[in-house]
Amino acid sequence: MDRIRLVGGNELNGEILISGAKNAALPLMISSLLTHEPLVLENVPRLADVKQLERILENHGVDIAVHGRRRGEAEGGGQRMTFHAKDIVDTTAPYDLVSKMRASFWVIGPLLAREHNARVSLPGGCAIGTRPVDLFLYGLKALGADIDIDEGYVVAKAPKGGLVGTTITFPKVSVGATHTILMAATLAKGTTIIENAAREPEIGNVAECLVAMGAKISGIGTERLVIEGVSELHGATHEVLPDRIETGTYAMATAMAGGNVLLRGARAEHLQAALDTLSGSGVHITNEDNGIRVYRNGNGIQPVDVETQPFPGFPTDLQAQFMALMTMSTGTSHIRETIFENRYMHVAELARFGADISVDGQVATVHGKPQLKGAQVMATDLRASVSLVIAGLAARGETIVNRVYHLDRGFERLEEKLSRCGAEIERLAS
Ligand code: EPU
Repeated sequence: MDRIRLVGGNELNGEILISGAKNAALPLMISSLLTHEPLVLENVPRLADVKQLERILENHGVDIAVHGRRRGEAEGGGQRMTFHAKDIVDTTAPYDLVSKMRASFWVIGPLLAREHNARVSLPGGCAIGTRPVDLFLYGLKALGADIDIDEGYVVAKAPKGGLVGTTITFPKVSVGATHTILMAATLAKGTTIIENAAREPEIGNVAECLVAMGAKISGIGTERLVIEGVSELHGATHEVLPDRIETGTYAMATAMAGGNVLLRGARAEHLQAALDTLSGSGVHITNEDNGIRVYRNGNGIQPVDVETQPFPGFPTDLQAQFMALMTMSTGTSHIRETIFENRYMHVAELARFGADISVDGQVATVHGKPQLKGAQVMATDLRASVSLVIAGLAARGETIVNRVYHLDRGFERLEEKLSRCGAEIERLAS
């Protein structure tokens, strides 16, 4: 397995081009199952999770093509890809494919809506928590689906004539369940209202794509989505929005290492809570026409308390990175993780750098230290892994991050982006 070697201490200066968002690209790709016409997606990031979902979609019969660069397109920009689900040849999503990536479970929505049946492996638990699917099943049943669990698979059948719109009030905000019911409802008969919908920008990006495909959706960006079902959707061309988690990660990396970096293409309104938190810790953040500038001139990082929340709150996907930053603050900060019950695996790894963190239930208490020291560490999940990289950027001496395949799931050309800004970082091939 590849490893990443870093030597800390260099400031970051320059520009980082923000890639398309993984968590929008995945559901957008899944939306292609809703129509027999081609869906063209622009700015798709080159990530292991995208590749994995390609395999799953191909198994359902989707033809996938990657197109070359166009005139005027930025070097290192995202991919333009076509997804063509002319015929769905298989409505089963098998265990060996689904178990590798939880978001692949979301195919159940479009398969059920278009083909009226689906057999999708339960995704199972994962490193950051149990992550059940009860909300998905609740929503699909409300649309009239008959659901059975059989040998680890969810076997879903739509009523004769297809799914039927209704009002669904989620007892808890779920990104995946909102995506899935939204996609399914586009082809249901009548009107579906989703109350307490997730409001993450990726949901809005998917909803806008569905509208471009002929869906009738109102309330985009709010917690109440209204979907008037149509009999079929058509092809469209749609752009994946910039990755707010990648943006926040590099903002925290710059805060940690010091320096001045323009995060090109980033959109502040997609991560305002995280930017406000960073400003509170003494980092300078300015909005520019072409992105967000992050600047720290060697002053100390102030401790700030944060609590993760669904959008527009502070994202759980930036909790580990923020904790890395707080390990070098001038005091004590408290971090409360409210979304996932087991998202503190990075704590033990950050301790290897000399960080002083204790966890009590949902709350981590971080006592800042003037200087971390480089260490051998192990990546445990995607966002935890990158927190180790950014800790290594500020630590004295050498850091080796093992098991970097987690990083490749969600960060495109990480070493290249950081080393262009002055970091000493390289990949050691296995
Ligand atoms: N939940 C349930 N029942 C369900 C579904 C969810 O109890 O049926 C719970 C979860 O266990 C969790 C909470 O609801 O405690 C929120 O989970 P959500 O469904 O919103 O998460 P998700 O859709 O599985 C997406 C992102 C995650 C991100 C979360 C929260 C994608 C592909 N994944 O996951 O991203 O952390 O929303 O914002 O969009 C990552 O990119 O590293 C990542 C984990």
